[in-house]
Amino acid sequence: MKVTVVGAGAVGATCADNIVRKEICDELVIVDILEGYAEGKALDLQQCSSLLGFDVHITGTTGDYSRTENSDIVVITAGIPRKPGMTREDLIGTNAGIVKTVADQILKYSPDTILVVVANPMDTMTYHVLKSTGLPKHKVIGMGGALDSARFKTNLQKMLNCSQNDLQATVIGGHGDTTMIPLTRLTTLNNLPITDVLTRDQLDKVIADTMVGGAALTKLLGTSAWYAPGAAATMVLESIVRNKKKIFPCSVYLEGEYGQEDICIGVPVILGKDGWEEIIDLKLNAEEQEKFNQSAAAVRKMNAVLDTL
Ligand code: APR
Repeated sequence: MKVTVVGAGAVGATCADNIVRKEICDELVIVDILEGYAEGKALDLQQCSSLLGFDVHITGTTGDYSRTENSDIVVITAGIPRKPGMTREDLIGTNAGIVKTVADQILKYSPDTILVVVANPMDTMTYHVLKSTGLPKHKVIGMGGALDSARFKTNLQKMLNCSQNDLQATVIGGHGDTTMIPLTRLTTLNNLPITDVLTRDQLDKVIADTMVGGAALTKLLGTSAWYAPGAAATMVLESIVRNKKKIFPCSVYLEGEYGQEDICIGVPVILGKDGWEEIIDLKLNAEEQEKFNQSAAAVRKMNAVLDTL
C-alpha cells in the first residue's frame, strides 16, 4: 500500500506522522514545492522508525511526482493556511491554482488513485479537483466534517465533563465558520439524547464554539491548526486503506442526495477501499434541511468564484 501526502507543512507533516505511527501503508511519499523541505521531513520521520517501532519506507521529494507513481491514495494539504482574521474563503485564489496543479501531477503517475482534499476552502477545492480532473466521484473526498465533528465533541466534553469517546456527534454542511451544521438532534451521550442532558442555552454555546473552532485556533496560533486536521485526515485515510467502512461526514459530490446537486458538501459517507462508497441519509427535519440548503447556497457562491479565476 502506497500513500502520498502533498504538502510537508503543518497539516501534511502531522498527517504523515500519524500515518506511519499507525502503519497505514508500507510506503509513504511526502511532496512539497519548497526545496529540501519534504526530504527533510521524511528523513526526520524515518529516524523515528526504531524509536516508535514502525516499518514504513518514507521518502520526500521536491516536486518530483514520478516518485509518487502508483499511489493508492493521496492527501492534498498543499496550499496556504489562513492567518488571524482570514476566513477559509480568503484562500480560494491561491489554493485553487495549487490544488489543480498538484492533482494533475498526481494523476499523471497514479491515474487510479483516490484523492483526499484538505486544502481550504475545502468544499470548493474538492469540487474544483473533481471537475478539473474528471475523476469518478467516489474517488474525490474532502476532509472537513470529520474535523468539525471532533471539535464538536471537544466542546460537548467541556460542557458535560464526559468522555469524548462516549459521544456520537456529527457536523454536516460546508466546512466554514458560517456554513457548518452541528446536528444536536442526533447527538447522543452513550445513547442518551444530548437534548435531554444539556439545556438549549448550553447547546447554543456548544454550537457557536464549534462553528468558530478553526478561527479560535487561528487566533491563538497565528496560523491554522494542524494536530486535529492531521488526525482527522488520517482517520479518513485509514478507513479507506483498511476498508473499515467507517462513517465520517466528508465533502462529496451530490446528485440529488440531501436535496442538492452539482456540489461537494459535507454529508455522512461510508469510507472503504473504493473511496466513499455510500451516502447515509440522515432524514433531516425541516429546520435542518433549511440550514443545509443555506449552507449549500454559500458553498455554491464560493464555487462560482472558481469561474472568475
Ligand atoms: N506543491 C506542493 N507543495 C506546496 C505547493 C505546491 N504547488 N504550494 C505550497 N506547498 C506547500 C508549502 O511549501 C507548505 O510546506 O504546502 C505546505 C503548506 O503547509 P503550511 O503552510 O504549514 O500550511 P498547513 O497549516 O499545513 O495548511 C495547509 O490545509 O488545513 C488546510 O487551511 C489549510 O489550506 C491549508 C492547508
